[in-house]
Amino acid sequence: MNRDHVAINRDVWDADAKNWVAAGERLWASENPVWGNWGVADGSLDLIPSDMTDKDAIELGCGTAYVSGWMARRGAHVTAIDVSPNQLATARRLATEHGADITFIEGNAEATGLADASFDFAISEYGAAIWCPPDKWLREAWRLLRPGGKLVFLGNHPLLILCSPTNGAPCDTALHRPYIGMWGADWTEVEFDPSGVCFNLTISGWMDLFRDIGFTVVNYQEVFAPESITEMRACVPADWAKKYPVEQVWHLEKPEQVRVGST
Ligand SMILES: C[S@@+](CC[C@H](N)C(=O)[O-])C[C@H]1O[C@@H](n2cnc3c(N)ncnc32)[C@H](O)[C@@H]1O
Repeated sequence: MNRDHVAINRDVWDADAKNWVAAGERLWASENPVWGNWGVADGSLDLIPSDMTDKDAIELGCGTAYVSGWMARRGAHVTAIDVSPNQLATARRLATEHGADITFIEGNAEATGLADASFDFAISEYGAAIWCPPDKWLREAWRLLRPGGKLVFLGNHPLLILCSPTNGAPCDTALHRPYIGMWGADWTEVEFDPSGVCFNLTISGWMDLFRDIGFTVVNYQEVFAPESITEMRACVPADWAKKYPVEQVWHLEKPEQVRVGST
């Protein structure tokens, strides 16, 4: 992408932040985590450990920061970074209302400026996971993690990108773009539901990148919509998301013994 995706995405999220307040309030108030666009219950996905006592955790692209809130509730010392001041304003208000002690940073998750090896756990749910070029933010996450640290991220499944028409209309069962070379999708000027610049890779592209950086893959999960959901969400018909993997979750680890030559 030649255009400055960071500035584009910041402006998109600043303008859209008001539309995410209600969801943020609901999710901050939720006793148990639910994940992704389809609200899949914790237990089947388990993105965050049940006990995070005294762990240093970072959320990369936190939005309204309910994931950070859940980690703080489980005992973590949480840092949350986001590029959008308006999203952070909601996040700060909700953290105060819920008595959560979270360090918020306005900045780019691809270059946080934080110290090397300062976190045990990093997470992104539709944050850096889709809005940042994978090679950039994954290398930054690697740098931030201590040996033995974990990175978990959830975002769109590559199949969803393939089946999404280039004009932004709801996805269907045709292949609308090549799989080979998958890198990003620019939704800024599409006819339906314009947004920002997103990134994704083929499955082997993700695996190659993890190997190149040095991450070990601990688990890979493909997410489907729960049977109970009938309405379209984020331009995905519920029936599609019940039949095809709509989201993916990668669970990665920075090994205790980092191999020579890793980034
Ligand atoms: C959908 S929200 C993710 C948060 C939340 N988990 C959710 O699903 O609502 C996406 C967030 O990523 C942030 N974001 C996009 N690009 C970013 C970047 N380069 N660095 C940090 N945050 C970024 C946006 O500002 C937005 O708040």
